[in-house]
Amino acid sequence: MKPNYLRRLGSSDLMVSAVGLGCLQFSRGRGISGAMWPSLSRKEISAIVETSLKGGINWFDTAELYGRGESERALSSSLEDLNIPRKDIILATKWWPVLRTSRSITSSIDKRLSALNTRTIDLYQIHNSFSFSSISSQMKEMAKLVDQGKVRYVGVSNFSANAMRKAHKELLKYGLKLVSSQVNYSLLKRQIERNGILDTAKELGISLIAYSPLGRGLLTGKFHDNPDLINKRHILRRYYASLNKGELKKSSQVVQALKSIAKKYQVTPSQIALNWVVNANGNTILAIPGATKVGQARDNADSMKFELSEDDICYLNEVSSSF
Ligand SMILES: NC(=O)c1ccc[n+]([C@@H]2O[C@H](COP(=O)([O-])OP(=O)(O)OC[C@H]3O[C@@H](n4cnc5c(N)ncnc54)[C@H](OP(=O)(O)O)[C@@H]3O)[C@@H](O)[C@H]2O)c1
Repeated sequence: MKPNYLRRLGSSDLMVSAVGLGCLQFSRGRGISGAMWPSLSRKEISAIVETSLKGGINWFDTAELYGRGESERALSSSLEDLNIPRKDIILATKWWPVLRTSRSITSSIDKRLSALNTRTIDLYQIHNSFSFSSISSQMKEMAKLVDQGKVRYVGVSNFSANAMRKAHKELLKYGLKLVSSQVNYSLLKRQIERNGILDTAKELGISLIAYSPLGRGLLTGKFHDNPDLINKRHILRRYYASLNKGELKKSSQVVQALKSIAKKYQVTPSQIALNWVVNANGNTILAIPGATKVGQARDNADSMKFELSEDDICYLNEVSSSF
């Protein structure tokens, strides 16, 4: 394991693995996200969580939205089954803001704590910027939760550079700082490098958490190798991940590059894609790939065990420059 695989999350005292586990896949048949993946059993989820922990992953990202709390419950049940001491892991979840006011941040927190079977959430994030309430009142409610000890640190997700700046400024009024911002980032999604988000994160010392770091599966190369797999995915999943001929064609050059570099390092294309996400921009970006199988979880955790050379990072930057 490379010694720098543990990184500080923003200005917090949380040391997180460069790669965490995304838990959208644990929605277990509930809600829209539940329709996208097979409903994993408690045993399957425990095995994915156990494999991730063994591979050096020490944190988990879930959300109220994922299976309407089912992902949070599935994660906490598996940690209980595995007898993992709470202090050994870091839990991140998200408040769902759509059609709600900021008051629900404080009124719904006990449900989140109970779903996660914990007294404190390490990182509580605003899922997106579509609340009825202003960023200022959302941060005020978040600060109350930190004051009550129910939340340790505050993050956001799907916020613009300006919205991140505003959230950070509002938190400063309460003696807090914004520690993270979740963004859609991968070799097939590099807008944050151009729209000010990456620069703002670096300037303010905020960690970026890359969601969909495998391009929702496209960068694994498996759908390019075997397009028939696409028809085996639920229609909502195909739509969510843009699994179609056009996207396969657009991304094929990047996937080819991943395959050729993977041979050199004797790893998989997915591991190269993840290693690029967490190493191409210093220590600013962390990744949270999702997994539906133990083998995927192992593969993803092992992506932290090597470091891409500068030349290979440059080559991948070049080949994905149109994304
Ligand atoms: N903040 C937000 O708005 C937001 C939005 C989306 C996601 N997220 C978070 O980010 C996490 C990851 O995002 P994501 O699930 O959209 O995309 P992703 O991590 O890029 O792709 C996950 C999918 O890729 C395939 N996969 C993963 N590892 C693999 C491996 N090693 N080999 C082969 N295939 C592999 C699996 O597909 P199959 O299951 O089809 O095999 C898996 O479901 C989520 O779990 C969630 O926690 C956050």
